[in-house]
Amino acid sequence: MTLLRALACQTLALLVTLSFAYWLPIFHQPIPFLLIQSGFAVVGSMLLRQPTWWIPIHLLFLPSVFICFTLALPAWFYLLTVIVLTLIFWGTIRGDVPLFLSSPEVAQAVTLLLQQERATTFADLGAGVGSVAIPVAEQLPAVKIEAWERAPLPWLISEWRGWCLSNFTASRRNFFAADFGKYDVIFAFLSPLAIPEVSEKIKSEMQPGTLFVSSSFPAPNWQPESIQHIKDRRKTVLFCYRI
Ligand SMILES: C[S@@+](CC[C@H](N)C(=O)[O-])C[C@H]1O[C@@H](n2cnc3c(N)ncnc32)[C@H](O)[C@@H]1O
Repeated sequence: MTLLRALACQTLALLVTLSFAYWLPIFHQPIPFLLIQSGFAVVGSMLLRQPTWWIPIHLLFLPSVFICFTLALPAWFYLLTVIVLTLIFWGTIRGDVPLFLSSPEVAQAVTLLLQQERATTFADLGAGVGSVAIPVAEQLPAVKIEAWERAPLPWLISEWRGWCLSNFTASRRNFFAADFGKYDVIFAFLSPLAIPEVSEKIKSEMQPGTLFVSSSFPAPNWQPESIQHIKDRRKTVLFCYRI
C-alpha cells in the first residue's frame, strides 16, 4: 500500500509534467522537467499524507533514474541491485522494520545488563547482522543466545559471524513464532509500528521477573523499570521493562 501510493505520486507527477512539456518548450530541457516532476511528486506525497521521510525520496527518484540512464549501466546491474536490496530489506516493502544497526556501545550495555540479571538465556528479536547478539555471545559464553532474523542476507551474515560460537544460534524466522517464555532477557530494536504487538506478546509469554529491553522505542502504556542513555553517535535510549 505504501509503495503503491508512492508509485501513484511519481506516475501522476510524471503525467502532469509531460502535459506541461507539451505546451511549454522550457520543460523540454531535462533540468526544468526533473525539477517540476519532483516538485509535483512531493505535493502528491503530502496530499496522500505519506510520512515526511518520503519527501527526499520523491525529490531524488526521477533525477536518479535520469543519471543512471546517462551512465549507461548494464541491465544486470539493476537486477543485482534489486536482488541485494530485497535480500537485505525483505519485509520493509510491507511497511515492516528496516535494517539499521545498534552501536558497539549498545552491545556493551546489553552485556552488562545480562551480567546484572545473571541471565542464562537471551534473545535478540530482529537481530540484523548480529551487532548486539554476536558481541554478547563472545563476551558471555555461558549465556545461550538466540538471534531471530527474517531477512535472508542479514541472517546469513550473523550465521557466518557466529559460526564458531557454541552458545549462539541464528534462526531465519519470524520472531512471532518464538516462545518468549524461555528467555531471561529479550532485546529488540524495531520500530514504533512493531513495538505495541511485540510488547503484548512479551507481557503474555515472558516469565515474571525477566527483563525486556527495547532500544529507542518505548512500549506503549508500560512504565519502564529503568531507562539507560547510551553515549553513542545516535544517543540511543534503552527502555528496560520488568515483567
Ligand atoms: C532495526 S534492525 C535491528 C538489528 C539488530 N537487532 C541491531 O540492533 O543492530 C531490525 C531487524 O528486525 C528484522 N525484523 C523485523 N521484523 C521481524 C520479524 N517479525 N521477525 C524476524 N525479524 C524481523 C528486520 O529484518 C531487521 O533486520
